[in-house]
Amino acid sequence: MAFPKKVRLVEVGPRDGLQNEPNPIDTATKLALIDRLGAAGIGYIEAASFVSPKWVPQMADHREVMTGLTRRQGVTYAALTPNLKGLEAALACGVEEVAVFGAASEAFSQKNINCSVAESLERFAPVLERAKAANVRVRGYVSCVLGCPYEGEISPAKVAEVSKALFEMGCYEVSLGDTIGVGTPLAAKRMVEAVSRDIPMEKLAAHFHDTYGQALANLYAVLEEGISVVDSSVAGLGGCPYAKGASGNVASEDVVYLLNGLGIETGIDLNKLAETGTWITQTIGRPNRSKVGVALAAK
Ligand code: HMG
Ligand code: MG
Repeated sequence: MAFPKKVRLVEVGPRDGLQNEPNPIDTATKLALIDRLGAAGIGYIEAASFVSPKWVPQMADHREVMTGLTRRQGVTYAALTPNLKGLEAALACGVEEVAVFGAASEAFSQKNINCSVAESLERFAPVLERAKAANVRVRGYVSCVLGCPYEGEISPAKVAEVSKALFEMGCYEVSLGDTIGVGTPLAAKRMVEAVSRDIPMEKLAAHFHDTYGQALANLYAVLEEGISVVDSSVAGLGGCPYAKGASGNVASEDVVYLLNGLGIETGIDLNKLAETGTWITQTIGRPNRSKVGVALAAK
């Protein structure tokens, strides 16, 4: 299969990138980050997470973020909603799109959302119904698609099964999460091949963390398969609170640089994006994990 002509970037920095930060980050910083990302031409920003503040304290200001952001035309501002409680709160803030998150691993599902995979799917069904009634689109995540911190190897068949369930339930897109960044290119290809037997390729997204430094290589491999939606985080911020040691998502700047080199359109201004990466990492006192960001800043 040929490379896609265009790729849509889903910027998860404000959510996945910040959710694991131990020190409080004020709402104004989150709002400034979201605004800068929009100004750089990002068309989809996962801005907040309506989860329990006891589980993920950093996302406790979800309401303030969702209602405080300045909406730009052409930008979708989305939020995670694991259950009806989260969805209702998000709807009350005028969210236009939400995401539910399941896993291909039983153990991870228990640690992350306190229920089995089957129970999670039962919980998501009314979330999808309610969202549909409110005209809100729902994205579905599957975690641990290339390995689990508790169970180790995960079979592509299990990933395909959970992905199919989310898609059939009404998720318009399924994002395949290498939560702990353990995948390698051939495994990523095989996993995507298995999932795409049941779900059209254009309905799938790659969500790769970079713990083992393989995320860009894995992305290249699945772009070749026809994946055209990529989740990434500015400056490679992040880590999952329920996946110890996992590092951030693949850096958005690195993805845009790779896509530019392949002649694939994104509509994103790489310099502005890199400046945003430099700014946020300096503001929260984190190293910039985007090689492209560091190289551009040194120019
Ligand atoms: P639970 O404890 O099983 O839920 O948590 P519960 O229904 O029994 O409620 C317990 C308490 O939580 C109650 O409060 C509820 O009101 C409250 P209490 O009476 O004790 O004061 N509660 C909520 N509060 C706010 N918002 C809500 C909500 N729901 C219940 N929506 C729950 C279940 C899912 C809520 C919990 O396990 C949770 O919040 N987990 C958070 C998991 C999380 O955010 N993980 C990180 C995001 S996923 C990720 O990063 C992976 C991804 O990036 C893809 C990849 O990389 O693979 C997406
Ligand atoms: Mg993630």
